[in-house]
Amino acid sequence: MDSLAEPMSASCGAVAGKSSVGTGRAHGKVILLGEHAVVYGAPALAVPVPGLRVTASADGSSAERDTISFVLPPVADVVAVNQAEGGLPGLIARLRDRFGVPGTMWVDVRVACSIPLGRGLGASAAYARAVVLAVADLFGRRLDAEEVFELVQAAESVVHGRASGVDAHAVGSSVPILFSGGAVERLRIGFDGVVVIADSGVAGRTRDAVELLRGRFAREPLYQARFVDMVESETWASMGDLADGRAKEFGARLTTAHGLLREAGLSTDQIDDLVEVALRAGALGAKITGGGLGGCLIAVTDNAGTASTVARRLEEAGAVKTWRAPLRRVCRCWQLTRA
Ligand code: MEV
Repeated sequence: MDSLAEPMSASCGAVAGKSSVGTGRAHGKVILLGEHAVVYGAPALAVPVPGLRVTASADGSSAERDTISFVLPPVADVVAVNQAEGGLPGLIARLRDRFGVPGTMWVDVRVACSIPLGRGLGASAAYARAVVLAVADLFGRRLDAEEVFELVQAAESVVHGRASGVDAHAVGSSVPILFSGGAVERLRIGFDGVVVIADSGVAGRTRDAVELLRGRFAREPLYQARFVDMVESETWASMGDLADGRAKEFGARLTTAHGLLREAGLSTDQIDDLVEVALRAGALGAKITGGGLGGCLIAVTDNAGTASTVARRLEEAGAVKTWRAPLRRVCRCWQLTRA
């Protein structure tokens, strides 16, 4: 994991003490294939979206108080609520414990988040990661990849109800990843694809989506086996397509996966319509991404010109925002562009 992870923090030379400030960063992600099934042990493929960022700063220079506090700009309020409902109090407690923060110390943690919230783009995991790195930086502590993952994953497990770990890894990875059996490895991609990400404008809640599927699986165990098997086989097969540059075949698998997620009740009429729009505009494949019940869809093309057309048509058809990102270039080279 170490080799895939982004630098653990963008340190500004913090040294533990009253005038120090620690900083941390993380970015968004999209899941190409495997969401939901990954919660039940199937593999998932995810791509970092470095143009969607969270930055956190932890300032320990304030007057002494009795806890770590989080001071958030308005843009992060919804994430804060999301986390406060679940992950944030636990994360604070773990950070206090991990760094031995004295009961009298007040730390202001400020968070700026450009990841749209509730859109399946990894906002909650990126938020937790940026905060963990900022607080670690403030206390001059270097966490290894596993320690960061564990802290982020603990917050995610509360936020998602049952988190697989793919988001916690993807928001810190510098390259597209395969997440399987709790481990991550770099995904090999043999063609210059473009991922168009389109926001339906409707927030979904991953926790509700995970619960919805859990309920259905409890009632229909055979359906669970079929869903997980089918997603899993599409995901494994797509890895060969990606590695060998079979763009058309890869695209078709995305669209098949969308059908499985729709059948599971995780898509919306609007997103189904946008998937059709993307396909008619020349996308090789398209699907909902992330938790679902709203959020974003992705469409893949094998050239920038078609990606522009797809993005434009999606916006004309009601997508509130689109982004384009190269599929295979590593994270730090990516310039995420507004379509
Ligand atoms: C959310 O981005 C992905 C899900 O599979 C949940 C998870 O893996 O934790 C829906």
